[in-house]
Amino acid sequence: MIPAMPDQEPNNSDFNPKILGILCYWCSYAGADLAGSSRTQYPANLRVVRVPCSGRVDPLFVLRAFERGADGVLVAGCHPGDCHYAKGNYYTRRRMSLVKRLLQYVGIPEERFRVHWVSASEGKDFAKIVGEIVEEVRPLGPFRPELAQRFEDLPTVESAVPEEAVQHS
Ligand code: FES
Repeated sequence: MIPAMPDQEPNNSDFNPKILGILCYWCSYAGADLAGSSRTQYPANLRVVRVPCSGRVDPLFVLRAFERGADGVLVAGCHPGDCHYAKGNYYTRRRMSLVKRLLQYVGIPEERFRVHWVSASEGKDFAKIVGEIVEEVRPLGPFRPELAQRFEDLPTVESAVPEEAVQHS
């Protein structure tokens, strides 16, 4: 077998990316559940964290996910106008557009981060989104913080959270 030339693009066709899905309980998590219960196939690359509302997603959750080994992150919530807390996903929409710009600034390709609105009845759409994100992240290979310019300039999650917020009494 001929060894790969050092300047060749790595072939990541066998790479199985780890995708973290941060899903709102009321819609997107229920959509994921529906996909599962109706046996809609989607890649097993997704690990799910359930939040009460997409408005709960702190930008630090996304950075922490990349810091801790996620290759891609999906944030999903109710469609605009359907948030069970009235405006949570409007905040999410604004906040996540800033996160996208932040990730771009630090050198994380935009394919690694997606935001979607998925209702409880959209199991098939949810499965399709997961398939798409896996296929977009796969050719990029594993995420390594040292490959993203400026990633090390970001505050660590621990330094960005006030100490009293993490102290347990
Ligand atoms: Fe789903 Fe707010 S409850 S986005």
